Amino acid sequence: MGESEKLIGFLRKSVLFRNLSEKDLRKISLNFEIVNLPMGEVLFYEKEEGGDMYVVLEGRVRASLFDEHGNEFVLAEIGPGEFIGEMSMIDELPRSATVIAQENTRLAKLRRDIFFRIIRENQDIAINVIKALVARLRKTDDMVEALAFRSVEGRIVKFLLKLGKEKGVKEADNYRIRKMTHRDLASRVGASREAVTKALKTLNFKGVLKDTGNFWLISAHAEEAIDP
Ligand code: CMP
Repeated sequence: MGESEKLIGFLRKSVLFRNLSEKDLRKISLNFEIVNLPMGEVLFYEKEEGGDMYVVLEGRVRASLFDEHGNEFVLAEIGPGEFIGEMSMIDELPRSATVIAQENTRLAKLRRDIFFRIIRENQDIAINVIKALVARLRKTDDMVEALAFRSVEGRIVKFLLKLGKEKGVKEADNYRIRKMTHRDLASRVGASREAVTKALKTLNFKGVLKDTGNFWLISAHAEEAIDP
């Protein structure tokens, strides 16, 4: 299969372009530029000027905030079919976050002027953008809830249970999930590495999290066993 057929195939399954006619899809696909981003490379930094948006074709990127010490807070992970960089493209303000490849990633880049032209010609795409942004707002609200109302232990439990349900293996009353470094976990729950290390010890002491070497076993009832 040629590159352009492959791109059309990916766009057909993407959040923004999925309900387009075959003819429109073909026309629109001519406006993209393919970008390959090796794992660990930065697509763009927070505060940079930027007018392009990207559709993730393969791989995965994350949008993160960093403090002055280099501590990271992950806002979102974006995978195949989803888009990234739409905020600066829409409001023309600097990038709201730094975007880094989590894996070797292939993206399709679209310029602001072309995107707006496409939207004017295809109102379905505008509706898809609104729906996708609302879904992101809901996820962000969920994250804000954890930061506002939960302890570090509570945030870790919430995050690990979600991960367990999505990617883990259910074993009796536990989810088995691959262990992460304390620093990586800290970047997901908005806490320092030290606070995460302390909270993991407490969770272990309370019997809701077991370390089995390469994996963690988190109790499916962990939320009931700890203070929020
Ligand atoms: P932009 O501001 O252009 O560059 C950073 C990108 O990260 C942003 O566009 C969005 O694509 C993405 N991003 C920023 N904040 C969030 C969030 N809360 N949820 C999902 N994606 C986000």
